[in-house]
Formats: sequence, structure tokens, C-alpha cells
Amino acid sequence: MSDKLANGFLSAALTRIQRSPTIAATQQARELKAAGRDVIGLGAGEPDFDTPDNIKEAAIAAIRRGETKYTAVEGIPELRAAIAEKFQRENNLQYRPSEIFVAPGGKAVIYTALMATLNAGDEVIIAAPYWVSYPDIVLLGEGKPVIVNTAAENGFRLTPEALDGAITPKTKWLIFNQPGNPSGACYAREQLRALADVLLKHPHVWVLTDDMYEHLVYGGFEFHTLAEIEPRLRVRTVTMNGVSKAYGMTGWRVGYCGAPEPLVRAMAKLQSQTVSNASSVSQWAAVEALSGPQDFIPKFQRAFEERRDLVVSMLNQPRGLECNTPDGAFYVYPSIRQLIGKRAPSGTVIDSDESFVRELLDQEGVAVVHGAAFGLSPFFRISYATSPAVLEEACRRVQRFCASLT
Ligand SMILES: Cc1ncc(COP(=O)(O)O)c(C=O)c1O
Repeated sequence: MSDKLANGFLSAALTRIQRSPTIAATQQARELKAAGRDVIGLGAGEPDFDTPDNIKEAAIAAIRRGETKYTAVEGIPELRAAIAEKFQRENNLQYRPSEIFVAPGGKAVIYTALMATLNAGDEVIIAAPYWVSYPDIVLLGEGKPVIVNTAAENGFRLTPEALDGAITPKTKWLIFNQPGNPSGACYAREQLRALADVLLKHPHVWVLTDDMYEHLVYGGFEFHTLAEIEPRLRVRTVTMNGVSKAYGMTGWRVGYCGAPEPLVRAMAKLQSQTVSNASSVSQWAAVEALSGPQDFIPKFQRAFEERRDLVVSMLNQPRGLECNTPDGAFYVYPSIRQLIGKRAPSGTVIDSDESFVRELLDQEGVAVVHGAAFGLSPFFRISYATSPAVLEEACRRVQRFCASLT
């Protein structure tokens, strides 16, 4: 870094945040592989399947039609209509197209909603373990992340009591993510009902539901979102979702939300001065994703469920590892509590999930992400969005690593 950059050139806001640790872990695995090391990367949060052909064809057709210009800031009318229709069909939620907002990725929706609303000191409740970007986006906006820990024994779910206890007059938002990244936590209808009852008592609190993994649920789990369970919350809820995970479209960068119209207008004002709009071609691809055939979704669900079962069963075999069985997303979040204090063959004492993850990479070439990055230790996250053969080999290595600790 040059002296000029070191001497106050960078913003103070940037000092409040860190580089995304999941992106950093993925990059580290990629670099080690490029340098010739035998590394299995299980850090990335993206499905391994390709975007379905009908979606790619829709994008190619859009390019050929010349859909290559700036679009409306909030998204093309065809996509906003398709999203409104999706909310009605899948979530029993009535949003008018004017209540729909499209951004380049789910992350950009969250960023724009928070930046459009946060003032210094506003509190945002986030359950840990959390998706890494929530607290940092809040900090960028000068807000205060209020972290509420959850417990593995309770499937890493936010309880109504913990939510009630965290709300203060300064609370502006609850960020509510299910199926959860990194825990896979899902909430049954009654559990959502109980949280909704708490929120009804506190009318100043808005809710941002991150439903990104809605379609990745297993064992017959039925997904519901908060605004559907309690329609009275709709006036202060942002129902966020996107095409990245369910449609294998992480690189296309399209996320969206349904929200009260005045907030959509405020978000559009901000987006008009930042990224302007999601890519025109990607928006047309998203129209096809949401309106075209959905029959591949159950196939991917089954494939992911098999992988989950494989990983959970293999990770529960080594003494000292405990791995619960999440109902959704494509992550497991095993506990290493019983391995803390043990010594690796290198002589390193495993004193945290960070040292566990570092030694696992050095010794066995398996790249995962330490729990501290997600705000709850001592755990680590494995993404099982990769082939069963690779997962089996990775889990065998984790087993061998655990067995080598004394
Ligand atoms: C919980 C959660 N929300 C939002 C996102 C962001 O999705 P996108 O790639 O559409 O920005 C991710 C991506 O990892 C995620 O895990």
C-alpha cells in the first residue's frame, strides 16, 4: 500500500469492515490449487450445477433482440411482473409490480435497503451464526449490529425470547435468514408464528427476510416466509430473494425483493446513484428462470439432500465432532467444542476454530471456513454443493485429521 493510501486516503467506513472471509477462503483454496497443491475447496457458497439451458437461451435471445441498454432502475417491467407472480404463486404474497425492486444480486438488495434506511446508531438484530455480509453492511451504514447467539441444540434458531430481549427503542431492523447460511436453520410455521407475535408487539421494528435458499429444503420441509404467516407485518417487511442459488445463477447477479412502495422508491433513488440497474441481459434470463419450467428444482433438491445425508453421517463418525442435520441450504456447521485443547501432529494446539481450519488445510488440504467468521464459535462451515465423490474424499480427510489430534 502506498503512503498516500496509508495516510487517511481510505474512508473511515472501510476500516469498520473486513473483506468477505468466505470469498477469501475460496480464493486461498484456488491459489493453493493453482500452485499445485491437492486441495479440496468446500468454502464456496454456490451450487455446482450449471444455469439451465432454457435460461441461457432466453439471455441469448435477449442479446439478439438488442436488450442491451440501460433499464429502469427498479428493474424491467417484465421481471417485476414475473416476481410479483412468483410471490403470489409460491408464497401466497400479493405484491404489485410497483412494490418490487431488482438489484444486481441479493447482496445488493440488502445493501440498498440498509443504506437507504440506516442512520448512525440504529440497531439491527442479527442471529449468529450469520451470513458474513450482514454485520459489515450495517457497519458501513453506521448502524450497530446487535448479535443474538443461537444454539446448536436448538437447530441454530432464533427464539422468540431472545428476539424480544434484543429489541430496544433503537432497533430499526431484524435481519431474518432461513434456510440459514451457514447453519441451514429452518423455521416451521409455528416457530415463525411465535416470532411474528413478538414483532407485532414492537411496531417500530422492520424485518428483512433473506429467503435466498427458499427452494433448497429437504425431507419434506415446507418453507414459509414471515409476511405470509403474519400479513400485518407486510407493511414493514422486505421479502428478499434472488435467482442465484435455486437456479444456478450466481454469476448473473440478479436479486429482488417485495417491499412497501415508498421504500422501493427510496431504494431506487439510491440505486440510481450507484449501480443504476441489474444487467439487462441477466434480467431477461431471470424472467425465464421465474416463469419457465421449474421441474429441475426437485431434482436438485434430491441431489442436495443425498449430499447432506452423506456429509452429516461421515462428520458424526470422528470422536469430538458433532454435526446436526439442517433442513435447508447447502451447508453444515459442525461443532469442534470437544477438540479444543488437542494437539495436531505439527505441534499446534487447536485453541479455536481458526486454528482447526488452518491445520486442516495444511495437513489434509481441505479448505473450509471457521465459525468465528460467522459470529459463532467453535464451529466450522462446510459447503456441500459439490459432487458426492469429492465430498466423500473431503470427509475422509476430515476424519483422518480429527483422528490425528491428541
Ligand atoms: C444468506 C445469503 N443471502 C444473500 C446472498 C447473496 O446472494 P447474491 O449472490 O444474489 O448476491 C447469499 C450468498 O451467498 C447468502 O448466502
